[in-house]
Amino acid sequence: MVLCGANSAPQHPIEVVEHGPMSQRRVFIGVAWPYANGEQHIGHIAGAYLPPDVFARYNRLAGNQVLMVSGSDTHGTPITVRAEEEKISPAEVVERFHPLFIKAYLGLGITFDLFTHTDTQNHWDTTQQFFLRHLEKGYLYADRQKQIYDPQADQFLPDRFVEGTCPKCGYADARGDQCDNCGATYEAVDLLKPRSKRTGNTNLEVRETEHFFLDLGKLNEPLIDWIRTSDQEHWRPNVLNYTRTQLEARTLRGRPITRDMSWGINIPVEGYDSKRIYVWYDAVIGYFSAAREWATLTGEPDAWRLWWQNADARSYYFIGKDNIPFHTIIWPAMLLGYGDVNLPYDVPANEYLNMAGRKFSKSRGNVISINSVLERYQADAWRYALTALGPEGNDVDFTWDDFVDRVNGELVANWGNLVNRMLSFAYKRFEGRIPEPGPLQDEDRALLDGIRAGFDSVGSLFGAVKLRASAIELARLSTLANGYITATEPFKVVKTDPARAATIVYTALQAIEWLSILWSPILPHSSQKVREMLGHEGQLFGRQYTETVKDARGEHLVLRYDGTAAVGRWEATTLPAGQALREPAALFTKLEPDTAAREAGEVSAS
Ligand code: MF3
Ligand code: ZN
Repeated sequence: MVLCGANSAPQHPIEVVEHGPMSQRRVFIGVAWPYANGEQHIGHIAGAYLPPDVFARYNRLAGNQVLMVSGSDTHGTPITVRAEEEKISPAEVVERFHPLFIKAYLGLGITFDLFTHTDTQNHWDTTQQFFLRHLEKGYLYADRQKQIYDPQADQFLPDRFVEGTCPKCGYADARGDQCDNCGATYEAVDLLKPRSKRTGNTNLEVRETEHFFLDLGKLNEPLIDWIRTSDQEHWRPNVLNYTRTQLEARTLRGRPITRDMSWGINIPVEGYDSKRIYVWYDAVIGYFSAAREWATLTGEPDAWRLWWQNADARSYYFIGKDNIPFHTIIWPAMLLGYGDVNLPYDVPANEYLNMAGRKFSKSRGNVISINSVLERYQADAWRYALTALGPEGNDVDFTWDDFVDRVNGELVANWGNLVNRMLSFAYKRFEGRIPEPGPLQDEDRALLDGIRAGFDSVGSLFGAVKLRASAIELARLSTLANGYITATEPFKVVKTDPARAATIVYTALQAIEWLSILWSPILPHSSQKVREMLGHEGQLFGRQYTETVKDARGEHLVLRYDGTAAVGRWEATTLPAGQALREPAALFTKLEPDTAAREAGEVSAS
């Protein structure tokens, strides 16, 4: 492979052909870039951050080569509005929240190969290369456009600097670029009764200004070809139907991709000094630029091609439903226009996890920040609850009562209880070792066959991004193992027939070991504990770490993942009899019965 510097776009991209075991695949996982204008809450995590991690961990165990990237979205009016509110600079807003995202991902174990941000030299260069290539190939054109102007502030009001009534649904507090109520996207001039966020002025003007437009009309037919010819049956029906309908209406038109503002990436063409590239044009390019930054950091600046220019690689994008048009229409259009790079294979967009039926919103309060709950509860408790509650097909209401029921009634009572009682029994009654089994009986074989089949059933669900269903299947398998203990009664049998009890305990520990692998994409921390209690060495997964990267735009903190030492495999290996166990400890913490009431503020925390 020809090496080329991280900051130079490939002029003659080469198609990468890899030969390896059939089961091995390159899997690119793009995760929505969070605006660095506030802390993330559990709705964000359930919607777009935990699901890709569960999927990434499963793929790594299954032997696939995963590259999972994202970063803070540092541009646009979401950042500048916050900066104005707080009377600080946009850069200071980014510096405050970017590290808090990283803190949450470390605490929760979201294993990004790279979590970076968009105010880096690499990202600026890559974005400007996209822009220039689109321009050169005729997919960008300059035109005059009507924009809302606030004479009081003497400024144009792009995107979130203007609010008003949604032209589609009539919602009174719609933002200038998108309606929070119905999800519609539009231009700010389409708003009814617009008002300035800067001055509150409702006497706004419409003035002409020159901007660059992405010529989506030219890409409408190529997009239809893409959505029709690629095998899209694996797409979620709502995502596929929306995309097909939009594309087949053949109404795509030029869309402005620059703005009248000073915070953002410079337009690489002379005469546009007072304008910047629109945040959405640059943010989606982050998927590509982050792959390149990752490659440079690993010392193989061309390695990104293995995921981007390889026909066998698959790209998945994990997002919330408000981001669907940007990922199934605009980003694919930008990639088609750029040329020689992979288009999305799947966009498993989620619906919302709401609190009391309303969308969690940073601006409306009413949020449960992920960092705050990680101080009080185990990461795996949240990983389980948010997966089991996952808003895959419809909006879901979060309640603290549900959280407690999921953790105590499902996780602790089923899987946690199985591990606790069998490991402490084995440790105490079999001299701290995995007992030597005698001949297996039918009931032993039935259990082992049942759990072994989980590598197929749970594996296909994870592979198809049906994470909620995988949690249900895992609960069924754990119940199977608990049922086996109830039926075989090792605690009684040990008194009369220690040899039979040894076989039962061995069988149960083998089932537990397999279950710990099957659970591990959702419950990586506690599965690692099970592995250690069973006496194994090594880490199921790799290591997360942070690093400060310096470039021409300054320094930025990144989160990385090193999977080289990981030993976890998606396979049913044989438990070694005689192996020394480690002293067992409770896998999960049972939540206090008054947890929900405390969290709702009904009783004061003491
Ligand atoms: N920052 C946007 C949001 O929070 C999402 C950007 S996703 C990406 O809604 F595609 F631009 F990366
Ligand atoms: Zn609306």
